[in-house]
Amino acid sequence: MLLYIAGMTASFPAIRLRRTRVAPWSRAMVAEHRLTPADLIWPLFVTSGSDVEEPIGSLPGVSRWSVDRLAAQARAARDLGIPCLALFPNTPRELRSEDGREALNPDNLMCRAIRAVKDAVPEIGVLTDVALDPYTTHGHDGLIDKGGNVLNDATSRLLVEQALVQAGAGSDIVAPSDMMDGRVGAIRAVLEQGGHHDVQIMAYAAKYASAFYGPFRDAVGSRGLLKGDKRGYQMDPANAEEALREVALDLAEGADTVMVKPGLPYLDIVRRVKERFEVPVFAYQVSGEYAMIEAAAAAGAGDREALVLETLLAFKRAGASGVLTYHAPLAARLLGA
Ligand code: PBG
Repeated sequence: MLLYIAGMTASFPAIRLRRTRVAPWSRAMVAEHRLTPADLIWPLFVTSGSDVEEPIGSLPGVSRWSVDRLAAQARAARDLGIPCLALFPNTPRELRSEDGREALNPDNLMCRAIRAVKDAVPEIGVLTDVALDPYTTHGHDGLIDKGGNVLNDATSRLLVEQALVQAGAGSDIVAPSDMMDGRVGAIRAVLEQGGHHDVQIMAYAAKYASAFYGPFRDAVGSRGLLKGDKRGYQMDPANAEEALREVALDLAEGADTVMVKPGLPYLDIVRRVKERFEVPVFAYQVSGEYAMIEAAAAAGAGDREALVLETLLAFKRAGASGVLTYHAPLAARLLGA
C-alpha cells in the first residue's frame, strides 16, 4: 500500500506497472472491468404501417420499424445476448393531441410493439418509456398550461395511467422519463393495486436538459413540434447534488433501478450515484452521443468499433450496471456473444 502513496519513484525498478500490460493474456487477467452483451439495452423506434423500415437521417444506421418487423429485431437481440429492448413510438401525427391521450390507448403503437416483442421472444426484457412527448402536438413530456408550463400533478395522473396500460400490454420495466415530481411513487402504487407486482420501475432519475437529444426527437417525430425547451422540468447540467436528491426520492418512492442521462458527459453522476446508493445504476448513451461517434467515424477521425467499445467500457468503470445504447447490436457482435 505504502508504495502507492509515496515511494513510487523510489521503488523503481522493483515496481514496473508496465509488466502486467505487456502481453494480451496478462492484460486480460488484470482487467478490472469487462463489457458483455448482458450490459446492453437496445433502444428501438417503432412506426406505423407494415413491412416498413425508415432510416433516421440524424441517426445513421438506426431505423424505425413497423410492428410486424420488430419480432426479427427481438430475435436478433436475443441471439446476440442482449437482455432487454427499450421501445419508443413514432406516433402518427393525426393521433397526437394537446393532452397526448393516445398514450393511454391500450392498442396504441407502443402497446402493439410490446405484445409483438413479447409474443416473439418472451425471454427478452421490454422496457417502455413513460412520458407524453411522442403523443403530444407540442412535443412536451406532459400537459401544458396556457403559458406553456408543464403541469406536474395533472401530468403525473396521466403517466400513472400510461404506465398501467404499458404494464397491461406486457412491459417488464416502465421507465418514467418525464422528470415530474412524485410520479414514481404514484406509478408504484397503481402497479401494486393492479397486481403488477413484478413490473420494474427504472426511473430516469437524473435526466438533464441536454443538447444531445436532437436525433431522438427526429426519431419520435417531436423535434419540429417542440415549443420552447425542457429546462422547466429536466435538470440543469450545472447540478450534481440535485441529481443525488432526485435519485434518493425515486428510490424512496419505489424505483428498482435508476438511470442517469445523457451518458458520457455525466459519468461523474453515475459514479456518485453508485457510491452513495449502492443500487443498480444505468446510463443512457443518448442519440446525440451515438451521432457524434458516427460522425467521427465517417470523418475518419476515429475507428467506429474502437470508439464504441471504449465508451461503453467507460460506463462500466464509472459504476454502471448497464447502458442503453443504439450501438448495442454492433457492440454485442464485437463482443462475440
Ligand atoms: C422523452 C425522451 C427523450 C429521450 C428519451 N426519452 C428526449 C427528451 O427528453 O427530449 C432521449 C433519448 C436520446 O436522445 O437518445 N421523454
